[in-house]
Amino acid sequence: MRITMIGSGYVGLVSGACFSDFGHDVICVDKDESKIAALEAGRMPIFEPGLDKLVAANVAAGRLTFTTDLKSAVAGADAVFIAVGTPSRRGDGHADLSYVFAATREIAEAVTGPIVIVTKSTVPVGTGDKVEAIMAELVNGHEVAVVSNPEFLREGAAIGDFKRPDRIVIGTEDARAMQVMRDVYRPLYLNESPILFTGRRTAELIKYAANAFLATKITFINEIADLCEAVGANVQDVSRGIGLDNRIGSKFLHAGPGYGGSCFPKDTLALLKTAEDYETPVRIVEAVVQVNDNRKRAMGRKVIKALGGDGKGKTVAVLGLTFKPNTDDMRDAPSLAIVQSLIDAGATVRGYDPEGMEPAKAMMPEIAYCKDAYEAATGADAVVIVTEWDVFRALDLKRLAGVMGTPVMVDLRNIYPPAEVERAGFAYSSIGR
Ligand code: UDX
Repeated sequence: MRITMIGSGYVGLVSGACFSDFGHDVICVDKDESKIAALEAGRMPIFEPGLDKLVAANVAAGRLTFTTDLKSAVAGADAVFIAVGTPSRRGDGHADLSYVFAATREIAEAVTGPIVIVTKSTVPVGTGDKVEAIMAELVNGHEVAVVSNPEFLREGAAIGDFKRPDRIVIGTEDARAMQVMRDVYRPLYLNESPILFTGRRTAELIKYAANAFLATKITFINEIADLCEAVGANVQDVSRGIGLDNRIGSKFLHAGPGYGGSCFPKDTLALLKTAEDYETPVRIVEAVVQVNDNRKRAMGRKVIKALGGDGKGKTVAVLGLTFKPNTDDMRDAPSLAIVQSLIDAGATVRGYDPEGMEPAKAMMPEIAYCKDAYEAATGADAVVIVTEWDVFRALDLKRLAGVMGTPVMVDLRNIYPPAEVERAGFAYSSIGR
């Protein structure tokens, strides 16, 4: 198969590299010349474990190439994937589809034969219809099929998620496109990953429904955590106690500072917009968005409470800045709101993150950046664990307490047993226990 991937960002690059690893010939396209030059030189534009090696091996095997020339990449391809960004539109929260439609028009100009266009970007219900309409207007004499094939990749675990998916969702009713998609994913369904063929609109909605459900699950346990604190219960035991029920399932029940990242905040908002457009409210998701927004600021207040109720003149060390471990992604990271509320309360903030320092510096120039957890904690009045990176799981707690002005720890990810931290001399607070 010859596959063209338009957009070499997170989703496009991971998907393109994995498809080439299956043995397909893949061309990854991007408008950004510096990104393509970096990829050709073996430098990854994002941090994703294993991606550099996967790309290098497939480039060496001649199956994976990069270009800025969309036209030549599209000519003769069996499937053309659109994996460009769909950010929240400024002002109204709708998904911004301008990149998707621009890519569609460029594909239309480049078509030389029958073509299958596959949207991998997360797009609102009905986008496939619009892509199809643009193609119908601009392309004469060639068969065009438009398929929805949403991605379910978690940052930090994206290669594993791509190669061993819980399911593959393919939205099309076109027989030729179905066969092309079967061939594209052949190595996976031979491996017994379930492949689900649905209508195109259904596939588009599955993606939003999945992310909104997961965001709801997290938000549910976060509120239960607050209740645990109030009544003297332990949220980790509650999670285990409910998660062992197969109907509930144990995943995505870790209470924390609220979800962030490039998908959940954006996709829940876009789903609300679709619901509004069709006058069919999804009130649960409305509540989830609101509760999660409030939670991030509430975490700032929690830290100030641990400081004795006043941030003025205090120094706080924030450990972990990215929205989750194993990524350098700062988009909608809880650290952003927490740091802001600490600064608003008059505190001085120091930060450390294993991979996210560069993007963090650009987004939070007002804090001091340190080389590790101990440097950040030196003389500080509190350390706050915001992201559960492995390096924070086995800190030398005695040493940490020793370098601090006042040994206070606020663990927003529940990575430590309270007794252990208290034994090391800390005043310790965590989430829902
Ligand atoms: C998510 C989806 O998992 C993926 O399927 C989709 O395609 C893109 O969005 P990602 O944003 O990379 O992936 O991260 P994920 O691991 O799902 O975590 C999202 C957020 O939820 C993070 O802020 C994380 O800290 C938080 N989270 C997750 C919790 O607070 N508790 C949990 O139990 C799980």
